[in-house]
Amino acid sequence: MQSDVSGKEQLEALAGRFPTDFVWGSATAAYQIEGAVNEDGRGESIWDRYSHNPANIRDGQPGDVTCDHYHRWPEDIGLIRELGMNGYRFSIAWARIFPEGTGQVNEAGLAWYERLVDTLLEAGIQPWVTLYHWDLPQALQDRGGWANRETVDAYAAYVEVVARRLGNRVAGWITHNEPYIHTFAGHYQGRHAPGGTDLANALQTAHHILLSHGRAVKVLREITPSVPVGITLYLSPTRPASDSLEDVAAARRADGYINRWFLDPVFGRGYPADMLEFYGKGGFLPKIEPGDLDEIATPTDFLGLNSYFQTFVRAVAPGPGRELEAVHVTGDDARALGFEVTETGWPVVSDAFRELIVRVHQDYNPPAIYITENGAAFRDEVVDGQVHDPRRISYLETHLTAVAQAMEAGARVRGYFVWSLLDNYEWGLGFTVRFGIIYTDYPTQQRIIKDSGRWYKGLIEANRSRV
Ligand code: FCB
Repeated sequence: MQSDVSGKEQLEALAGRFPTDFVWGSATAAYQIEGAVNEDGRGESIWDRYSHNPANIRDGQPGDVTCDHYHRWPEDIGLIRELGMNGYRFSIAWARIFPEGTGQVNEAGLAWYERLVDTLLEAGIQPWVTLYHWDLPQALQDRGGWANRETVDAYAAYVEVVARRLGNRVAGWITHNEPYIHTFAGHYQGRHAPGGTDLANALQTAHHILLSHGRAVKVLREITPSVPVGITLYLSPTRPASDSLEDVAAARRADGYINRWFLDPVFGRGYPADMLEFYGKGGFLPKIEPGDLDEIATPTDFLGLNSYFQTFVRAVAPGPGRELEAVHVTGDDARALGFEVTETGWPVVSDAFRELIVRVHQDYNPPAIYITENGAAFRDEVVDGQVHDPRRISYLETHLTAVAQAMEAGARVRGYFVWSLLDNYEWGLGFTVRFGIIYTDYPTQQRIIKDSGRWYKGLIEANRSRV
């Protein structure tokens, strides 16, 4: 029970460190929860194509049904409400709106998301909308995907249609989710859709995604001027795995390719010089047209910050698949460094989370920061109809403490969205890991609120009732 991990007083003390207008939410993504992949005119996305090759997914399963949220959304909104959250971050599947990526709009897709938004608002929950969470329409991939500059125009047209329909009812727009993970895991490491393994292609993809972000900001400002707009970046504090000069240099490089390659251009500094030089030597640099960097730097209202763990970096000799000359230490290797490790092999270092938020605030000074994802996978079991997950409670407690400390150091953090509302399809890992604060029993689709969900509810209530 929660009292084993954190007593009432501790919970109240933590809750008291957040303002009463703080956004307390949870996050999901379309392909991870919706299912209903062939319903109401939805087109095929790169994730449908990729996950239907069982060799690509750890348990061989596609996300065809997953949490069946497409049908169970009223119950799921009821759960968000029951836990007292006032925010919910979800993503829109582009292929439900434009089944072919461009051209004909699918009215049923727009209507479904509109109903979702209206029902959230009726329940007093702010809808935070991610416009792209990795599920490019396959038709666009067939024409080269994000490495084709025309995809930027297709994206802007899609964003315009969604913005016109949902309008000012949305609490916040997030143009993209984690361009780093999408481009590196999906286009260089081959472990996410579309399964690419070419670093130059990945960097061209990243450039066009960033460009499309800037373009979307302008479209959204025009159509929904009162709705804040931002981008969600995956950020990870990097540390050398040893004191060797090589590892120190590799950690600096990892900071370059994970963090600064995305933060710097979004905040108007262009691409970082050390990484331009490094990528340039290997012949990996993307084609950048005049004006692109200005467009990417279009001012935003907030930064969405996703972070899960600190990346320990070890230098390796260059070679095929090792163009970055660095590897990330996870799993047992991270345990050997002395850290607790989650089910996904990620080391738990909450203090590094505080440092990261403070650094982003100090170095880039975003007008506001929302933690748009943070959370952990642990092996959960249902015992007598309950799920006791003290390690997740402890993760959330220490990471929220880190957020409070960062705010006390001046960072303008305005909200926190735990990943995830419910256990769901974890991309290339299929259904093998559980991140939810609500348990999903896939065979029956029953949802069970975990102890961590109740803990979160208690924290939110304590925050609201503080004087
Ligand atoms: C992030 C993704 C999210 C989920 C979590 C665990 O990188 O944005 O969809 O997979 O990791």
